[in-house]
Amino acid sequence: NVLILDFGSQYTQLIARRVRELNIYCEIHPYNNPPENINDFKAVILSGSPFSVRAEDAPHPDLSEIRGKRPLLAVCYGAQYLAHFSGGEVAPSNTREYGRANLSFIKEGEDFFANISEGSQVWMSHSDTIKQLPEGAVHLASTSDVENAAYRIEGEDTYAIQFHPEVYHSTDGKQLLENFLVNIAGIAQDWTSDSFVDSTVQELKEKLGDDKVVLGLSGGVDSTVAGVLLHKAIGKNLHCIFVNNGLLRKNEFESVLKQYEGMGLNVKGVDASARFLDALAGISDPEQKRKTIGRVFIEVFDDEANKIENAKWLAQGTIYPDVIESVSVKGPSATIKSHHNVGGLPDFMKLKVVEPLRMLFKDEVRRVGASMGIDPELLGRHPFPGPGLAIRILGDITSEKVRILQEVDAIFIDGLKENGLYNKVWQAGAMLLPVNSVGVMGDERTYEKVVALRAVESTDGMTADWVNLPYEFLQKTSNQIINKVKGVNRVVYDISSKPPATIEWE
Ligand code: XMP
Repeated sequence: NVLILDFGSQYTQLIARRVRELNIYCEIHPYNNPPENINDFKAVILSGSPFSVRAEDAPHPDLSEIRGKRPLLAVCYGAQYLAHFSGGEVAPSNTREYGRANLSFIKEGEDFFANISEGSQVWMSHSDTIKQLPEGAVHLASTSDVENAAYRIEGEDTYAIQFHPEVYHSTDGKQLLENFLVNIAGIAQDWTSDSFVDSTVQELKEKLGDDKVVLGLSGGVDSTVAGVLLHKAIGKNLHCIFVNNGLLRKNEFESVLKQYEGMGLNVKGVDASARFLDALAGISDPEQKRKTIGRVFIEVFDDEANKIENAKWLAQGTIYPDVIESVSVKGPSATIKSHHNVGGLPDFMKLKVVEPLRMLFKDEVRRVGASMGIDPELLGRHPFPGPGLAIRILGDITSEKVRILQEVDAIFIDGLKENGLYNKVWQAGAMLLPVNSVGVMGDERTYEKVVALRAVESTDGMTADWVNLPYEFLQKTSNQIINKVKGVNRVVYDISSKPPATIEWE
């Protein structure tokens, strides 16, 4: 429906999320690799960019198929680009133009600014400014520092704004997007969870016919929602495999397997704990752990998938942030941790891939899950890393260490739930540290393990801050852990933010 051309702004995904919150479907494509079917899009939005339009290597999109042919909204860089290359003037600004500002002037009678009043707060983030508007421009709005904060081109449905409507701090940003997309571009707001489920189930039916499909379930939100969608479309032809790698939370394998069965999924639980633990014996290096787990998972999964005769497809719970092709600004970002479950399984599986959630953001996956009646508790689960407790046991892994950490983790997580704190936290867990410390229990000197508790707030895991859990809760949890879990005599709480720390300790 709506095409967002990305120029590498950190906010591009936010534009997409705001548009979708209006129940309008949109896709992000890099400006230098636009989709071929541009005519299928009813409107186009140009994102911001870290570049200056005056820089030699700045993006030069070809807008010949867009400008004047369909409604166009140019944000920040986009607005400067239109000005710079159509007879206007863009120059470095003298004043700082970052952060909050207020619209001090709005031209009256413009549909674009319907229901938005002077004084409205907007978010600026740019170092160049539009000194002179391009040919045919009508000036629409200003802030005290930015004269040309918005303009349109006479005779076209082309609008340009210097501020970022997608950022939460632009109070009327969503209204502005609605004005543009609904009132000006005439797009219907009919993309909802229910309509997504209906159309996706229909598409899956047509695509898959009577073929058999294999899906690996992890207990996480994405694979579960993908499973339920596919099950709606093809029923028993969906063969799910749920592998216990022995590194899940306490009782997780059994309870989640039951839930899956309760949903009517055709699921096989495979307990491969011993195989994983054997392969991991003696390995301390975090990347080595991840690689080993990834390799064994593929072996186990392949063994199981091969038992399903004539399987044609491999389904995956890939979501949109994993597939958006990004505009590289500073070269490929360095690999910090090899997330083994991003990128999919290797070719030898020789199955065609089907990814019913590949165009959805995480919160949309949750809403789709809810609209299909999936248990809210399952949908609200904290993220849990693919390698599981292996990367929360620092140093080498033994079954005894797994047992200790499972007990500690269960006390912590159950405590969060019992005290109404679970949903206030984005992710929580416990780390087993590779040190012993001295303690006293009764008259005895102990020399036992230290565990660290971690609870963070985040929206996407890219940045995170530790959660200020109540002292009473931490106190109670620490007592319970030390009294109940043999082998642990000290509990610490991790108060590091990401960056510079990471969420996991390995
Ligand atoms: P970090 O530790 O990088 O974690 O701040 C960010 C998010 O990613 C999860 N994580 C992983 N997930 N495989 C996964 O599936 C991995 O190897 C992995 N390492 C970290 C982590 O739990 C957090 O949500």
